Amino acid sequence: MKSRILLSGFVVALLFLVACSPKSLPKDTYRIQKQVAGNKGIVVCAHPLASAVGADILSQGGNAIDAAVAVQLALAVVYPGAGNIGGGGFLVYREAGGEATTLDFREKAPVAAHRDMYLDKDGNPVMNLSTIGHLAVGVPGTIDGIFEMFEKYSKLKNFSLLIQPAIDLASKGFRITEREADQLNEHRAQFLKVNHDNIPFVKETKWRKGDLLVQTELASTLERIKENGRGEFYEGQTAKLIVKCMAQNKGIITEEDLENYKSVWRQAVKGRYKSYKIITMPPPSSGGILLLQMLKMIEYAQISKLSFHSKEHVHLVTEAERRAYADRAAYFGDPDFTKTNLKHLLDYSYIKSRMKSYCLYQATPSSSIAAGVMPLPHEREETTHISIIDKDGNAVSLTTTLNGSYGSMAVVPGGGFLLNNEMDDFSIKPGVPNIYGLVGGEANAIQPGKRMLSSMTPTIVLKDDKLYAIIGSPGGSTIITTVLQIIMNLVDFELNPYDAVQAPRFHSQWLPDKIFLESSCLDYSTRSALKEMGHSIEERSKIGRVEAIVKYKGKYMGVADERGDDEAEAAR
Ligand code: DON
Repeated sequence: MKSRILLSGFVVALLFLVACSPKSLPKDTYRIQKQVAGNKGIVVCAHPLASAVGADILSQGGNAIDAAVAVQLALAVVYPGAGNIGGGGFLVYREAGGEATTLDFREKAPVAAHRDMYLDKDGNPVMNLSTIGHLAVGVPGTIDGIFEMFEKYSKLKNFSLLIQPAIDLASKGFRITEREADQLNEHRAQFLKVNHDNIPFVKETKWRKGDLLVQTELASTLERIKENGRGEFYEGQTAKLIVKCMAQNKGIITEEDLENYKSVWRQAVKGRYKSYKIITMPPPSSGGILLLQMLKMIEYAQISKLSFHSKEHVHLVTEAERRAYADRAAYFGDPDFTKTNLKHLLDYSYIKSRMKSYCLYQATPSSSIAAGVMPLPHEREETTHISIIDKDGNAVSLTTTLNGSYGSMAVVPGGGFLLNNEMDDFSIKPGVPNIYGLVGGEANAIQPGKRMLSSMTPTIVLKDDKLYAIIGSPGGSTIITTVLQIIMNLVDFELNPYDAVQAPRFHSQWLPDKIFLESSCLDYSTRSALKEMGHSIEERSKIGRVEAIVKYKGKYMGVADERGDDEAEAAR
């Protein structure tokens, strides 16, 4: 017996040593920490190498914005499916002193874009035209956004230092994870269809975990951005490469489109949920307003009295979701083009009127739910998240995307970076769903220079006016309901931060009239009970990949989603 205990003690110690010593790991393995605590700063993002880059910048005295810039650039190299310089995103930033703001660096429709550009002569959508290839690309905002946040908030004021890790990762290469290998293999045919030159994402044999991915052209592009700054991307050699590649492939982005791109600082959307304050993203994301609408609806219906993942819980949340997403389809678009009375959508009497038809025992068919009544306007009318806190308490919640995995699949020849397929987030025809099944209308129709509607929901939560949580996720239309569930899990069901992130998730979005479930979500009897209430249920792949930092038992804890290679890293 004694020798057995000794032997198992020895095995445990050996496993511990292996787990703790990066040197002893085989070259193709990362030590991925899903949970860290610390008071010197934390970074949580989609790839362990990028988390390490961010934590290192914090350790060198950088603030949360310095780390965010370095992480975004590193993700553009090590997480090519969504990390990007050819896409766009949203930042929600709260300074330790309490000032909060948001930066919209969402892509824009090129000047030559028009509302029917993805329809054939009979007015029907042309398959894949808004999702694959050069016509699907919106004018990228990421590099402009990075320089905006750097110039306004950087503490280190040393851009070269922040971009260097990305340059090194691109030029020397890095070992890909199993997940990345699978993704690259899965997309091989599409890469070959869209690109005529050699690209680093395609090789003769299948990708395998541990293969080295070197991106020489991307390294040169990043090097030029280091030398020449923002102008390199929008007016310099990189701009010329983008325009040339557009012209050769029936794309429509011009020099003028790139020169005129500008990201916008926008007032954060702020609201209350119980005793918590929520700071989140305004349009052109629908995420912030929908999140607050749904929180208000479930608060009104007293969610706290229900038990976690019971039929009553899932039913209530689904009913709130279908009402909010019906509003999304009707009213949301780029605020520079479409004026929506956002205040009205969050008004208590409006929320009450929306929940009037909510029945405790019966699903309301989506066909009987339309958008709420809006008073007449006064005027005419594969994503990835980064959560960072620094040692002073400055907080970054940043979601960035190419839209689909690897965006349009188009790599800029000579530039080595992928371009987004964000144009599909417009409503290409009223009632025609986009890749996330979302429908829309006039407010989100294509217009030159307009930003396409988004669901990205970078969010910060305060408790007693102090930073409580930084939350965000990819997942297209499911982003908003994923962030909603994390807040419910923490606030209403008092799960610890790790369980709140890892708990199975469900999602509903008005149309299609379904509750989508991860396979491990809800037991058989709850599923049957929901069906009896009139809900239609469908299992689907994983929902969202959350990066969260949450104050728990007096400390900040970073939690990375087990659904991916995501990693939490603390500064030293
Ligand atoms: O902005 C949006 O809502 C979408 N382009 C986000 C895409 C996304 O989350 C893809 N990741 N799974």
